[in-house]
Amino acid sequence: MRRTLIAGNWKMNGLTGDGVALATSLADRARSAGSVPFDMLLCPPATLLSLVADATGDAPLAIGGQDCHTADSGAHTGDISAAMLKDLGCSYVIVGHSERRADHDEPDSLIKAKAEAAIRHGLTAIVCIGETEAEREAGKTLDVVGGQFKGSLPEGATPYNTVIAYEPVWAIGSGKTATPDDAAEVHAAIRKDAAVLKDAAFADGLRILYGGSVKPGNAADLLSLPDVDGALVGGASLKAEDFWAIAQATPGA
Ligand code: PGA
Repeated sequence: MRRTLIAGNWKMNGLTGDGVALATSLADRARSAGSVPFDMLLCPPATLLSLVADATGDAPLAIGGQDCHTADSGAHTGDISAAMLKDLGCSYVIVGHSERRADHDEPDSLIKAKAEAAIRHGLTAIVCIGETEAEREAGKTLDVVGGQFKGSLPEGATPYNTVIAYEPVWAIGSGKTATPDDAAEVHAAIRKDAAVLKDAAFADGLRILYGGSVKPGNAADLLSLPDVDGALVGGASLKAEDFWAIAQATPGA
């Protein structure tokens, strides 16, 4: 049974005051909610990881990075290694977000190596894949997503150390969301590819998140799809009330 993962990608947002306030508010909600049918993950900017880890304390919230280097340490100015994230209490790291693929020209091979570095250090890699608007309009969605999945999937991927996030690029931060039918089609295709690339047990256990303008108002429709195992949330994860409401849209919550 795949447990729903509700992940918040704060991107390059948050100074110490608001970051701690957001984390504290979510930690309070998570503590008082007790047993819930979802895992909640916060991915603040690296500058806030320590403070967020302190603010969430023993609350049932996981912490993750937004990127990591392929190497464990060394002369890589400005970069952060998976070992450093682990050391701060992270259990996840996002790799291959479309903003990094675009802003930093990250190819699938690099994203795969980053995911492998994450796994080496005991982190779960959230590998992001998704088509642009032009690719969708050209009817290439499944080819593009399938190619990215194959190219970025780390060696030794298991349902425990790897999560896939399908994020159509045109839906990120745009207010446009994939229709449930579109999301269902792509998620099912990814799961089918997972069975071909590895095996049925991997495909069956693999969590595939949807991302791109997920909001309290559309979360229930997306999270109720059989192959959607959670959400990667950007903008709406910056408001405790909205992020919590999205998690509450998990079936059975
Ligand atoms: P969004 O971002 O929810 O603001 O569209 C999602 C993401 O980029 O992970």
